[in-house]
Amino acid sequence: MQTARIYSDDALTPWPLPAWFGNDHPVEVDLGCGKGRFLLAHAHDHPGINYLGIDRMLRRIRKVDRKVVRAGLRNVRLYRMEAYYAVTYLIPAASIATYFILFPDPWPKARHHHHRLFNDPFMAALRRTLQPGGRIHVATDHQPYFREITEIFARHSAWCQPVEPWAPAPHERTDFECLFMDKKAIGRASYLRS
Ligand SMILES: C[S@@+](CC[C@H](N)C(=O)[O-])C[C@H]1O[C@@H](n2cnc3c(N)ncnc32)[C@H](O)[C@@H]1O
Repeated sequence: MQTARIYSDDALTPWPLPAWFGNDHPVEVDLGCGKGRFLLAHAHDHPGINYLGIDRMLRRIRKVDRKVVRAGLRNVRLYRMEAYYAVTYLIPAASIATYFILFPDPWPKARHHHHRLFNDPFMAALRRTLQPGGRIHVATDHQPYFREITEIFARHSAWCQPVEPWAPAPHERTDFECLFMDKKAIGRASYLRS
């Protein structure tokens, strides 16, 4: 395999996930995959699951791509795309088993809060694309954003209920978690789509 990256100049047609992976195994998404430490470790440990890493930074996607190819992982695909747009318009309905949304940008300044990923339209997009019984795992080192995220999920409890928070094994901690784990408390929450 020479690349795990999916290139397309068609930003309107929903993604043909089984064709990309060459099978119909469950698909898990690492939204904002960053430098890919979690994605690589988790995909390596779960060869029967397909992993889609999405990030808007081309440099990061290219870097993760090189690591995926070097590691010979055949169950990873990467797409450079804005997360809200991807989940709202490109990921097909009921196609995703699990979302990992790990250390999303907190946009700490009040005047930047509108850039935050979690809001009601994003929740509607998660609901549309998750399979029944699908899961969402969230982690952040930014406590105010963590509180806001849990409040948003509480508003959507008709279709997603909190479950025991998922925590990574040490070898699959994300790059950001490795930076912050000894310095800050990390908020974690997981939800089950009914
Ligand atoms: C704080 S970093 C965390 C990266 C990784 N999840 C980790 O924990 O190491 C946030 C990542 O999300 C990406 N990102 C931020 N906003 C995004 C958006 N709207 N769409 C796609 N990617 C986004 C950034 O490029 C960055 O790689």
